[in-house]
Amino acid sequence: MIRSVLRATGSYLPDRIITNAEMERLVDTSDEWIVQRTGIRERHVAAENQSTSDLAIQAAKRALESSGLSPEDLDGVIVATTTPDRTFPAVAVMVQAALGMRVGLAFDVQAVCSGFVYALTLADNFIQLGQAKRVLVIGAEKMSSIINWEDRTTCVLFGDGAGAVILEAAEGKGTLADRGVLSTHLYANGQLSELLYTDGGVSTTGHSGHVIMLGKEVFKNAVTYMADIVQEVLDKNQISASQIDWLVPHQANLRIITGTAEKLGMGLDKVVLTVDTHGNTSAASIPLALDTAVRDGRIQPGQLLLLEALGGGLTWAAALVRF
Ligand code: ACO
Repeated sequence: MIRSVLRATGSYLPDRIITNAEMERLVDTSDEWIVQRTGIRERHVAAENQSTSDLAIQAAKRALESSGLSPEDLDGVIVATTTPDRTFPAVAVMVQAALGMRVGLAFDVQAVCSGFVYALTLADNFIQLGQAKRVLVIGAEKMSSIINWEDRTTCVLFGDGAGAVILEAAEGKGTLADRGVLSTHLYANGQLSELLYTDGGVSTTGHSGHVIMLGKEVFKNAVTYMADIVQEVLDKNQISASQIDWLVPHQANLRIITGTAEKLGMGLDKVVLTVDTHGNTSAASIPLALDTAVRDGRIQPGQLLLLEALGGGLTWAAALVRF
């Protein structure tokens, strides 16, 4: 059978770093509160003239560079983002143009923090159906542009950045020993859309609005849904948690991540953590974490990775991948 193998990863973080100490000067908060409740110590924030596509393009170039491929080897680009440069066209076509690709599919996916796993799933399906051989999948966000910088309940949580992977078709045996995407799991519950949303939009207010979150309620749902979905991944693939080499979670809150790891019986030494220095970069957080651990040598070829995320919608998603 055809498998979608992760041929390469890349990522990009804007230069500007905002520490918790700086946050203390912006809103009524403290380093102690932010670290205790979330695990976040600092976050990167894009420059005013830097858009989501700028971040995405940098991450894409780095992934291409490590793949040894050229842009014409790619059949498509899918960008997961909540913060596109413009209402249309998609960020994906800007990436396509900037890389010098001439043909192939290009579109954006909107599933907030679960967006990268949704996009990865779509790319995997295109590849398995034989509709594409190589797809660039990116998660890119300029969350700083939809944050109310006077709202301490949200502004301390988010950061900007982009991460990319190149998925490539490869022959597999249809077993768990195959490299590539082994299973994907996507969910949404629109009944919970009022827990996390922006108070604006193109067809309502005519502007993007700012993030509003009922943090405690989202937290409770995240703990439950994450525990359920990781169990589903184990059951579907008939594996035990001890077979997973790395948990690569969405980096929203260290307490949610720790809860999921505990549920799996995994120590934090098997969890890729970037929440302390990246904050919550929404759709970018998983590919950013992935690239960080690939580049520092923790994630090795052949290892089994469990990716999981929850975000606005609510949406939640997971993927089992052999790197
Ligand atoms: N600094 C200091 N105090 C604060 C801050 C802050 N930055 N923010 C809130 N507080 C106060 C609140 O006002 C409240 O005070 P009160 O008790 O006097 O009313 C107190 O701290 C506790 O607030 P809670 O919201 O109950 O704090 P909680 O422990 O739930 O932590 C947090 C808040 C970090 C937001 C947590 O609920 C969380 O992480 N939720 C889930 C986030 C998530 O996973 N989101 C999904 C992805 S994001 C996306 O899709 C875009």
